[in-house]
Amino acid sequence: MNQNIINARVTFRNSPIHILEQFTIRDIDNAYEQFKKHSGLDECVIIQTCNRIELFGKSKTNNLNKIMKTWASLTGLEEEIFNENVEFVENQEALHHLLKLTSGLDSMVLGEEQILGQIKNSITSARNTKASGQHLNTLFDKAIRIGTRIRNASGIGRGGISVGSMAVKLAEENIDELKIKKILLIGTGEVSTLVAKSLQRRGYAFDVTSRTIERSQAFCETMGGKPIKFEEVLSAFDNYDVLFVATTAPYFLVTHERITEAMKGKNKGMMILDLSNPRTVDEKVATIGGVKLMNLDQIAEMVEKNMNARLNKVKTVQNIINEEVSLLEASMKRLDAEPLVKDVFKNIENLREKELQKALQMLDEKDEKKIKIIDELTRAVVESIVSTPMNNIRKASEQGKPDLVELASKLFDYKKQNQAD
Ligand SMILES: NC(=O)c1ccc[n+]([C@@H]2O[C@H](COP(=O)([O-])OP(=O)(O)OC[C@H]3O[C@@H](n4cnc5c(N)ncnc54)[C@H](OP(=O)(O)O)[C@@H]3O)[C@@H](O)[C@H]2O)c1
Repeated sequence: MNQNIINARVTFRNSPIHILEQFTIRDIDNAYEQFKKHSGLDECVIIQTCNRIELFGKSKTNNLNKIMKTWASLTGLEEEIFNENVEFVENQEALHHLLKLTSGLDSMVLGEEQILGQIKNSITSARNTKASGQHLNTLFDKAIRIGTRIRNASGIGRGGISVGSMAVKLAEENIDELKIKKILLIGTGEVSTLVAKSLQRRGYAFDVTSRTIERSQAFCETMGGKPIKFEEVLSAFDNYDVLFVATTAPYFLVTHERITEAMKGKNKGMMILDLSNPRTVDEKVATIGGVKLMNLDQIAEMVEKNMNARLNKVKTVQNIINEEVSLLEASMKRLDAEPLVKDVFKNIENLREKELQKALQMLDEKDEKKIKIIDELTRAVVESIVSTPMNNIRKASEQGKPDLVELASKLFDYKKQNQAD
């Protein structure tokens, strides 16, 4: 490819939650600005979910060092930690990885739906801030379409396994008589919905809390559970035996102090499942007697144990991805020729228009019907002369022959600096 597509990522596959969360980029708009200014990327898209922080970029040359430096400056991390945790791939491998993401093959819960929505949101926000351009917009639009098609064709997402159901299963495996325990769900977002669905399905009663009681009430109307005021809960964790915490709060909601206080008045243990990334439960609570804390790392282990049914679909998905990735690569390479092709068409059209007006003036032609015939004639002549070489330039680009595209640029006197990609 004339242009490089890169992917730098930190994911749950290589890094546990306490490392992963440190790579989180808090201010995405600022990050886009910094990456474009300092990393040598002229397009970028950031995908950030509970299991991954990923950067896709487009550039003419690659400078991994600059990318890492910029990322380090955004997170305050030392550059060494990047070497241990960041995976870096480019071009075909980057496209391949994006298809694995959109088809759910790289998700902790194979085939889960949430990642597709998260990728759609990422490309929309990159598009809105103009962080992405023609290459990444096209790439993501195509990858989302292909991923959706693969999911439907393979049925990889079917079978009712989710982060929520795995969290509930983890609680069941670790707590005797969960049915008689007092359960609290903190959060009313997507993950809380998955937890609530699973609790409902298995017949557990639970309370729900969120910052506003109206939100909890609305949530409980559709998902079940009993809404409880947030302020009441924060100072009364002793009422509960099991906490599921799934919020995007940028600080610890469940603090060491609050749980120490709660455990004073309790003669039973407490299990806390923190599904958030970054975590919203202070890990120090695990040092309090009677408290068992679990997070996304343990949920990942539970998922692995429960994936058998979906595993036999992986091969099918991999085969489809392998077929799709070469088509995707060809269409990305084809894009490299587009600025030149557009420029040639534009120049020839200007020329045609100018010469047409000159001829019409000389003929002093006013008859609309005749003008239309002459206009169409000039278009047809231009079209028949230019179409074939332009399609050949596109094909050369698609087949990875940048020399031919370069030569055509010279022949058509195309100035790259004018290209608006
Ligand atoms: N989506 C996934 O696939 C997935 C999977 C595993 C883990 N996770 C992690 O789970 C967490 C929740 O994800 P989600 O997808 O459910 O997010 P979401 O749909 O955006 O919901 C976020 C929830 O967090 C609450 N919240 C935000 N800021 C808060 C604060 N300062 N104090 C208290 N509550 C606050 C929100 O309450 P309000 O309504 O009051 O704003 C809302 O209930 C995240 O940390 C995510 O990384 C997500």
